[in-house]
Amino acid sequence: MATINDNYLKLKAGYLFPEIGRRVNAFAEANPDAKIIRLGIGDVTEPLPEACRTAMIKAVEEMGDRATFKGYGPEQGYAWLREKIAGDDFQARGCNVDASEIFISDGSKCDTGNILDIFGDDNTIAVTDPVYPVYVDTNVMAGHTGAANDKSEFEGLVYLPITAENNFTAQIPAQKVDLIYLCFPNNPTGAVATKEHLKAWVDYAKANGSIIFFDAAYEAYITDPNLPHSIYEIEGARDCAIEFRSFSKTAGFTGTRCAFTVVPKTLTAKASDGSDVELWKLWNRRQSTKFNGVSYIVQRAAEAVYSEAGKAQVKALVSFYLENAKIIREKLSEAGISVYGGVNAPYVWLKTPNNLSSWDFFDKLLQTCNVVGTPGSGFGAAGEGYFRISAFNSRENVEEAMRRITEKFKA
Ligand SMILES: Cc1ncc(COP(=O)(O)O)c(C=O)c1O
Repeated sequence: MATINDNYLKLKAGYLFPEIGRRVNAFAEANPDAKIIRLGIGDVTEPLPEACRTAMIKAVEEMGDRATFKGYGPEQGYAWLREKIAGDDFQARGCNVDASEIFISDGSKCDTGNILDIFGDDNTIAVTDPVYPVYVDTNVMAGHTGAANDKSEFEGLVYLPITAENNFTAQIPAQKVDLIYLCFPNNPTGAVATKEHLKAWVDYAKANGSIIFFDAAYEAYITDPNLPHSIYEIEGARDCAIEFRSFSKTAGFTGTRCAFTVVPKTLTAKASDGSDVELWKLWNRRQSTKFNGVSYIVQRAAEAVYSEAGKAQVKALVSFYLENAKIIREKLSEAGISVYGGVNAPYVWLKTPNNLSSWDFFDKLLQTCNVVGTPGSGFGAAGEGYFRISAFNSRENVEEAMRRITEKFKA
């Protein structure tokens, strides 16, 4: 008799986004004339930059000619893309990252989940609370946790609360943890990390033999010149950190799919016999076995992000969403709501007015303003009483949503 991976049964059936969908659909059915504005799920809305589309069209033409046709590419990604990334995203910022340490993939969601393949099952794992749910759920699936309690906290994980009290940056844990997930600029809180904060983590990881999983999916939204874009801007990070990057939110690739992971060749972890093993070799082996690369067409589109035209178009795209975030921050503040994030990040995190629970605020916003956001409690127990508004939408929708909110909440 075939059996299943029982760990999947530990996952909560009412996962955040399906539950949001259920409530929105029920409301829409009961109120067919309501013009619902969705500022919930973090998907981009604006078209793919012209430079990327032009590069894709050219690549499609190449695929149509026997002389330039491409079959399987390198599992790690084409060298011309890896070199551009290493040069522009890392070396230009003084980070010592070589093209051979970059692995092109079809998404950071997959990479942050798949990375667990090369680690043991006995690691102590720390996540912030609230957190991007993929980090938690992939550990549950891998059997790294016990069951969830009534606050949806999984036994065996170390939760590091991030709230207004600590400026949404986690305290360095007093106990020893082996794997730590950090995400800056942060989803869902929009918080950013200073070099000092990242240095404290790097020092901790080096002292404890821990590995940091650094998710920089929103790096392009950093406009403050003093903030680090990569963990490799911190000395010593090559010995303790893996970095995840994505073109999804940078260049509107959520539907096109391209991302990359940096695994420095200097990074090691222990085998069960106590020897040090290079993680680069394991990840290279994992990707070569379980992954067959990103399509040539998409990699050419990603390469175009680094062209002069591509850089200007991506900058304009990011500025557009950041302006949305600014409008959201200003209008919510005007309505007397406490807001966080949304300055170097596309997410605005707000404290629910009148101490409403996250879900009560969700229902109120949907019913009174016909606006959809994301309840903070869906990202973790410490997100209770908070709420996420995404800047990924048209200007018209953002302005209309904010007009409705200020009107209802100002009173
Ligand atoms: C923190 C974070 N990491 C990774 C991802 C996934 O990115 P990708 O589209 O590359 O899979 C997201 C998407 O919302 C995210 O918020």
